[in-house]
Amino acid sequence: MAPATLLALLSASLLLAPSAGAQSQSLPQEVPFAYVQPLDTTILNAYGHSPPVYPSPNATGSGGWTAALAKAKAFVTKLTPEEKALMVTGYPGPCVGNILAVPRLSFPGLCLQDGPLAIRVADYASVFPAGVSAAASWDRTLMYERGLAMGQEFRGKGAHVMLGPVAGPLGRSAYAGRNWEGFSPDPYLTGVAMEETINGVQKAGVQATAKHFIANEQETQRNPSFDANFNIVQEAVSSNLDDRTMHELYLWPFANAVRANVASVMCSYNRINGSYGCENSKVLNGLLKTELGFQGYVMSDWGGTHSGVPGIEAGQDMDMPGGLGPYGMIATGSSHFGGNITAAVSNGTLAQSRVDDMIVRIMTPYYALGQDRGFPAVDPSSADLNTFSPRSKWLTEFNLTGPSSRDVRGNHATLIREQGAAAIVLLKNENNALPLKAPKSIAVFGNDAGEDTMGSYSTRNFEYGTLGAGGGSGTGRFTYLVSPLEAIKARAAQDQALVQSWLNNTLIATTDVTTLWIPKTPDVCLVFLKTWAEEGGDRTSLNSDWYGNEVVSSVAAKCSNTVVITHSSGPNVLPFADHPNVTAILAAHYPGQESGNSVVDVLYGAVNPSGHLPYTIALNASDYNAPPTTAVNTTGIEDWQSWFSERLEIDYRYFDAHNLSVRYPFGFGLSYTTFALSNLQTKAAGKQQQVSALPAASQQPAQPGGNPALWDTLYTVTATVRNTGRVDGAAVPQLYVTLPSSAPAGRPPRQLRGFDKIALKAGQSRTVSFSLMRRDLSYWDVGRQEWVIPAGEIGIAVGFSSRDLTLMGKITAVVA
Ligand SMILES: *[C@@H]1O[C@H](CO)[C@@H](O)[C@H](O)[C@H]1NC(C)=O
Ligand SMILES: *[C@@H]1O[C@H](CO)[C@@H](O)[C@H](O)[C@H]1NC(C)=O
Ligand SMILES: *[C@@H]1O[C@H](CO)[C@@H](O)[C@H](O)[C@H]1NC(C)=O
Ligand SMILES: *[C@@H]1O[C@H](CO)[C@@H](O)[C@H](O)[C@H]1NC(C)=O
Ligand SMILES: *[C@@H]1O[C@H](CO)[C@@H](O)[C@H](O)[C@H]1NC(C)=O
Ligand SMILES: *[C@@H]1O[C@H](CO)[C@@H](O)[C@H](O)[C@H]1NC(C)=O
Ligand SMILES: *[C@@H]1O[C@H](CO)[C@@H](O)[C@H](O)[C@H]1NC(C)=O
Ligand SMILES: *[C@@H]1O[C@H](CO)[C@@H](O)[C@H](O)[C@H]1NC(C)=O
Ligand SMILES: *[C@@H]1O[C@H](CO)[C@@H](O)[C@H](O)[C@H]1NC(C)=O
Ligand SMILES: *[C@@H]1O[C@H](CO)[C@@H](O)[C@H](O)[C@H]1NC(C)=O
Repeated sequence: MAPATLLALLSASLLLAPSAGAQSQSLPQEVPFAYVQPLDTTILNAYGHSPPVYPSPNATGSGGWTAALAKAKAFVTKLTPEEKALMVTGYPGPCVGNILAVPRLSFPGLCLQDGPLAIRVADYASVFPAGVSAAASWDRTLMYERGLAMGQEFRGKGAHVMLGPVAGPLGRSAYAGRNWEGFSPDPYLTGVAMEETINGVQKAGVQATAKHFIANEQETQRNPSFDANFNIVQEAVSSNLDDRTMHELYLWPFANAVRANVASVMCSYNRINGSYGCENSKVLNGLLKTELGFQGYVMSDWGGTHSGVPGIEAGQDMDMPGGLGPYGMIATGSSHFGGNITAAVSNGTLAQSRVDDMIVRIMTPYYALGQDRGFPAVDPSSADLNTFSPRSKWLTEFNLTGPSSRDVRGNHATLIREQGAAAIVLLKNENNALPLKAPKSIAVFGNDAGEDTMGSYSTRNFEYGTLGAGGGSGTGRFTYLVSPLEAIKARAAQDQALVQSWLNNTLIATTDVTTLWIPKTPDVCLVFLKTWAEEGGDRTSLNSDWYGNEVVSSVAAKCSNTVVITHSSGPNVLPFADHPNVTAILAAHYPGQESGNSVVDVLYGAVNPSGHLPYTIALNASDYNAPPTTAVNTTGIEDWQSWFSERLEIDYRYFDAHNLSVRYPFGFGLSYTTFALSNLQTKAAGKQQQVSALPAASQQPAQPGGNPALWDTLYTVTATVRNTGRVDGAAVPQLYVTLPSSAPAGRPPRQLRGFDKIALKAGQSRTVSFSLMRRDLSYWDVGRQEWVIPAGEIGIAVGFSSRDLTLMGKITAVVA
């Protein structure tokens, strides 16, 4: 027997030996979350119908696109009927979505690529922090720079259209599988993130796609179920919501996106009030194209097209992936669009002008962003990596002659490392556990600490390896991923420290950890937990995966300096948060490819943490409301209904409305320094202190983002923020508005309406300034179909989280 084997036997017997305080060997079975909403017939009668809004408005080029619109119109006049059908219908090709070239008119076609945190189908491209991380940074500049850098990579690979950013899901439910692709359940924060991201992406000359429109708040039954003959047996889930909730929550960030001149909006899989996202005339013709004055094109989610002429008349402009047939089924050349459009126009069912408008809407952003002037050709390596439409499925040859496997990463690694660190939220820090002070003995625990064992491109949950991103079409292909363990070892070497690690969660959770480490208790125990989420399924638990809570219990029972780091899609309940030996907790979300370096920068204090929660962490999973509907087990075709009966009460709006205690409130985040606020001042932007309750009449044609008066700054609120500690850091002052009782019932107690990230040297003071726009002070009046500022005193509160509001003021914008 070799000595190594002897040693192994020895430690195995140690492991099994009963010791005082040893944990139970059996791990708890987690009961997956399942929910079916009780049928409320009063709501059933109130909803379940989406009003018809026709015809579909023509693009006007408003918002600065008139010259591009003229070019697009000129282009359309040169197309044959067959070319027109192809301009609005996807085709199998090298990209995730493809519009065919019209070589005769020097139009190279369009390449559409996933997704919101990276160009997914690509090599030698970067993986950026996920949307939830960008939101957790609360940093507008970071959001813009992230968008710009992503846009540069898409362009470098020859992708005209980026399929992101995401504002649907907004995050109605903490469980929703795709929340991390988007930003925050707060519409204001998400709205800012949408606008900044789109500005960045489009500055790089790439078209952004705001998705998924709208009320796409769960993954379960997002598409219909079919029988063997592809007949629908159960329709997709219907999100049933009232008009005020639509405007004040779900539509809000899309208004920012449209105002930022987003090129495209992707209609969603789900139904809204019983009508599919891609053929719902109320949301597409009504809300998006009329009210918000959207000038770009509506593309379907992949397989989200449910009809030809009806969808087109409801406002859909492009069918994706088109030639792959309905519901993502590979069926050669068939599409509700394509040849059906030519036929429908020629027999008079569909107006030629509507088809022309579809193409004008597609080509206007193309010209507006200068994509007709020297745009790079599609990287041929995309075609090799594209499993969605592999070459065997192509119906035509593509001209892939440019250089292959182009490296588009530039210096983005530095940016990603900084962005990942800037998004880390310090939730707890007792006894100044952090930053680490040159520890000589470090113990690292958890299967999230090490190298990924399932390759650099994982779209499914896996046990061993760190999470830099979630799964599904919103993931990225890592050219490399810095694991926490790798980065800790590199940094600890500077202190000649001992680094020991255990990555098997089952082992850690069931073992007395003192039997693992040598020679004595480590200076610090770093526990890395992870929580997977992916497209196509909702989370079944708000605990971290792989017995995360038991892993922490096991380590904290023996290590009085336990620091927990989570890599997670979003909210986790943290039952160990009050454990006296858990000295620090960091929520690191999905930081992208520099993950380990980002977290080490924060752990060792090279970066002072400044992230804040973009959602609420509740005490208990059962404290969250608005769960997704996941457990319908009846077979009726209409049985998947999701009633948004909580209305405006999602996330902190709900906890506040019901005075519920939470673990960590929305907007919360610690720093290695301290900050103070003082001197709240409010100034009217105009000469008068008071303003009209209603905005000036909307201009015609409609402007992108809707009535420009809604975006007028009416008041400026300022405060002094001071770094009262001994190290430099960045504060995130936040402004919340409380509408008076003259606004209709259901108004949330507080709503975020301003924030900024302010870097401050130790001892330094600066002024933070919040611009309150008309929309920020209004509620949506359903009867008047207008944003209205309520009469009376509007409360203004400024602080460092939704429940740490130290400065209070008020504005009377409209006298009662
Ligand atoms: C859905 O139905 C509710 C109740 O009738 C209505 O207020 C709302 O405007 C409808 N929304 C859509 C998009 O159909
Ligand atoms: C769109 O423009 C065409 C002319 O190009 C016109 O015939 C049609 O009525 C317009 N549609 C709408 C909804 O205004
Ligand atoms: C027309 O649409 C139907 C589905 O509605 C599809 O089966 C058919 O293949 C389409 N025709 C063409 C020419 O794309
Ligand atoms: C016109 O063509 C469309 C698409 O092929 C078809 O669905 C529709 O039934 C046709 N209508 C008439 C009146 O022929
Ligand atoms: C193929 O693309 C290259 C540039 O990317 C261009 O020079 C060439 O003319 C194209 N060939 C065809 C047949 O379109
Ligand atoms: C992890 O630890 C458990 C419990 O000791 C053991 O059964 C399992 O085989 C280990 N897994 C690996 C991959 O070593
Ligand atoms: C904290 O850790 C120490 C070991 O350093 C241990 O003795 C103590 O029981 C732990 N506390 C708890 C509450 O588990
Ligand atoms: C969580 O909920 C359970 C059951 O409602 C309750 O017993 C427990 O005290 C709650 N935990 C916390 C931390 O509030
Ligand atoms: C649906 O299934 C759950 C268990 O998953 C069960 O508790 C419930 O009674 C079932 N509901 C109906 C309507 O069959
Ligand atoms: C919450 O607390 C506030 C202030 O204490 C009180 O006015 C309000 O009625 C409470 N709401 C609920 C739902 O208990």
